Amino acid sequence: ISLEVSTSGGNSSGALPVGMMFEDVNHGGDGGIHGQLLGDNAFQGTNASLFRYASIGNATLSIDDTNPLTSAIVRSLKVDVPEDASGEVGFSNDGFWGIKLPQGTYSTFFWMSGDYEGDVTVKLVPKTGSGTEFGSTTLAIKKSSKWTKYEAKFDVKAAPNGNNVWALTFDGSKTAGSTLYFTLMSLYLPTYLDKENGLKPELAQPLADIKGRFLRFPGGNNLEGDTIDGRLRWNQTIGPLEDRPGRQDVWSYANTDAIGTLEYLEWAEYMNLEPMMDIFAGLALKGETVTGDALEPYIEDALAQIEYAVGDSSTHWGAIRASHGRTEPFALKYVEIGNEDNLSNGCASYVERFQRFYDAIHAAHPSITLIASTADLNCLPKDLPGDAWLDYHRYDRPDAFVEAFSFFDNIPRTNKYIINEFAAIYHNNGTRATYPTMRSAVAEAIYMMGAQRNSDLVQGLAYAPLIAHLAAVDLYNAWTPSLLSFRNDPPVTILSTSYFVQQMFAQASDPTDRYVDVVADGPLGPTVFWVASVSSGGQGVVKGANYAGVGTALRVRFAGGVEGTKRARVVVLSGDAEARNDEVDPGAVRPVEGVVEEGAEGWFEVEMPAWSVVVLVAE
Ligand code: AHR
Repeated sequence: ISLEVSTSGGNSSGALPVGMMFEDVNHGGDGGIHGQLLGDNAFQGTNASLFRYASIGNATLSIDDTNPLTSAIVRSLKVDVPEDASGEVGFSNDGFWGIKLPQGTYSTFFWMSGDYEGDVTVKLVPKTGSGTEFGSTTLAIKKSSKWTKYEAKFDVKAAPNGNNVWALTFDGSKTAGSTLYFTLMSLYLPTYLDKENGLKPELAQPLADIKGRFLRFPGGNNLEGDTIDGRLRWNQTIGPLEDRPGRQDVWSYANTDAIGTLEYLEWAEYMNLEPMMDIFAGLALKGETVTGDALEPYIEDALAQIEYAVGDSSTHWGAIRASHGRTEPFALKYVEIGNEDNLSNGCASYVERFQRFYDAIHAAHPSITLIASTADLNCLPKDLPGDAWLDYHRYDRPDAFVEAFSFFDNIPRTNKYIINEFAAIYHNNGTRATYPTMRSAVAEAIYMMGAQRNSDLVQGLAYAPLIAHLAAVDLYNAWTPSLLSFRNDPPVTILSTSYFVQQMFAQASDPTDRYVDVVADGPLGPTVFWVASVSSGGQGVVKGANYAGVGTALRVRFAGGVEGTKRARVVVLSGDAEARNDEVDPGAVRPVEGVVEEGAEGWFEVEMPAWSVVVLVAE
């Protein structure tokens, strides 16, 4: 196919071309991107258990709730030491289905109470077998009936696998017959950019490498909670960890909320992403709603949440944020009102709920773009404010995404859209996909192209969900597929085919671009699709996708020439239709980068293999 890319026509780019949507599902947060490695470290949620713990030296372990650390952290590990104890006694924690140990300086802390004076040793050792120690530290404990925090840093050697535990031991002969309590036990690996309570580099770095534009957080269904009472309360996710109670999430496990409002805002900042904060808008996942004047406290709460992000230290919540170590306000420009309020019985009441939240937030923060959590106009006020964006989610089959290439062509241009969740989660036969395939990734690319050429309307897109721990997927079967997945034991990190499409699109899309007209010598679709853009500096970009089992030649010429251009950078992602990066072969599909020289009469010629996504950037 030959494409003559014009310098005119088309649309200017959306403000946030490619972004990320994060919520803690499948332990993508706790035990995932969070840098803290111990599981059930403070026994939060409604089904706390000892399944990640093991006794050492015949200590009897139980979960105790009679000796709270704070009003938030109410449970602890009760360790009863046998009367005849001697030698090493204590317990171990095997993390989130294993602990991977890259080399580096780790930090650990725990809270302890009980009648003991002596040493406590913390060490990282294989779960089975003995002799090997990857790192350890010894802390001097002072006798105290009060809770005391102990912390240390220590060097850790790389472990060959993830079948390791964090073990805490003390002298059995000095503690025989006594009871000791431990809670909020933590182990942090060296974090991304070396931040306190930070992110795990293994997962943060690939996200940063996408080079996206925005980060939506914290959900998703998890924001809503199953019930109003079970909703995510932003103000219980801030401040010292011992003041964060955590909560039972909607995805079958307890969140520690150690990644909370401040950590999300910082995460966005570390990766140069616009923060897009979701606020709870009075709908719970199982259909409970809040309406009428009963909404007022929730609106106040949303305003407080926003003030926590943007207020300076003269404001109530800005001062609280400053007391949490962050004086400078965040530049929060996007707030989404609820999540999928068209679903779960929420539609009818969202007309009122949206309007009330919109009015209050817009009055207080007129420069913040407010996003409705649905694009279903039946669920929105008739005189919808023109500056509100509409969030349109799509989870579908690959063929349906390809058919939706022109979906945005005829949508009324009254309000701008953002696609804050999309993914090809089904195969074409309707069965659920476990991993993105090449076919699904090409289909997603085609859908993104359809949105980008309508970028006067569609401001950006975000694949969802972002991260899954495969052991959580095995156990809870809550959601597949995800953009990235991983397992600790045996250790593996999988960047999916869809991940590379997001990365290729993000790196070839800029808010200053213009999506321009293309004259082609063949049809746009049903298998070969493209979109072309030109940057303000004159750089030309063509994105193409081939949704077929035969390759085709692609010829591109930029009308009038892209000034000074003689070469183009080309990235190609391709594979068999069902090819995928998975646990068996995480490296099955990788993008291939190359350079193509401008040929006769200004044509760049590249091959579009079967089932491929191609990005050509004239430089
Ligand atoms: O991304 C997974 C879920 O899909 C989100 O929590 C929800 O918003 C959507 O239904």
